[in-house]
Amino acid sequence: MQIIDGKKISAEIKLEIAEEVKQILTKSGKRPHLTAILIGNDGASETYVAHKVKACEQVGFESTLIRYDYTISEEDLLDKIRQINKDDNIDGLIVQLPVPEHISEQKIIETIAPEKDVDGFHPVNVGRMTIGLPAYVSATPNGILELFKRYKIDTEGKHCVVVGRSNIVGKPMSILMSQKDYPGNATVTVCHSRTKNIGEICKQADILIVALGKPGFIKADMVKEGAVVIDVGTSRIKSDKTKSGWKLKGDVDFEQVAPKCSYITPVPGGVGPMTIVSLLKNTLKSAKKEI
Ligand code: GUN
Repeated sequence: MQIIDGKKISAEIKLEIAEEVKQILTKSGKRPHLTAILIGNDGASETYVAHKVKACEQVGFESTLIRYDYTISEEDLLDKIRQINKDDNIDGLIVQLPVPEHISEQKIIETIAPEKDVDGFHPVNVGRMTIGLPAYVSATPNGILELFKRYKIDTEGKHCVVVGRSNIVGKPMSILMSQKDYPGNATVTVCHSRTKNIGEICKQADILIVALGKPGFIKADMVKEGAVVIDVGTSRIKSDKTKSGWKLKGDVDFEQVAPKCSYITPVPGGVGPMTIVSLLKNTLKSAKKEI
């Protein structure tokens, strides 16, 4: 059994990105620039955005964090997005989700210019990714593909079971795993909240990718001997052992499941750090006008 070290791989990729930034800077005199919009004070969102800003600093990107109170109107927010769309100095724009209820998430996603949509959430990017055209791919699925590449994990002809069908992870992941390229060419099954016999289906997986947000959901009896298990879950659960009073827990019961796996991602330190690196990579692509 090998533990997939997302923290180590992400650190290596950050060094590669930093090297590219130096070259871009010499050529054009301009650093790639990511702008993030954060609305309100949700604890998890605060943490994620802080990590993104820090990662930008580490690789030499410029970053701008725009904060709004949760009372901001939808129209004011959309106006700001339209203004950023026109700003040649900004390469990538993300609005941290979730947003307050009076603001339409879909309107935000569709207002961000597809060429600055480094989250890969705009229908243009989702559609392009689906038919195999160059596109910004959603960060978490892209990070998982990168882990398969770096660990040389074989995916061709394998049965890949994706648990969860969110637009951000499950759906794009299932499409990417079936694409005619490496890492892909897998036979894909998608399980979700209405799936019957979910345990039996998971047990057939050579590659099991779990993104449903239920801590410890996948138990040993749901996993085939020798499977590759990728855990996308990041639930915050109470802990009296940490300073913050909480710790992250994945969707997989790691203690039980790990001994059966050929490869497994831990939580934290598996998929999470790769998500941020994917965002940096997309921003770099935008700065280089690759898509
Ligand atoms: N909320 C949870 N994950 C994400 C993400 O990848 N991007 C954005 N913008 N918001 C999120």
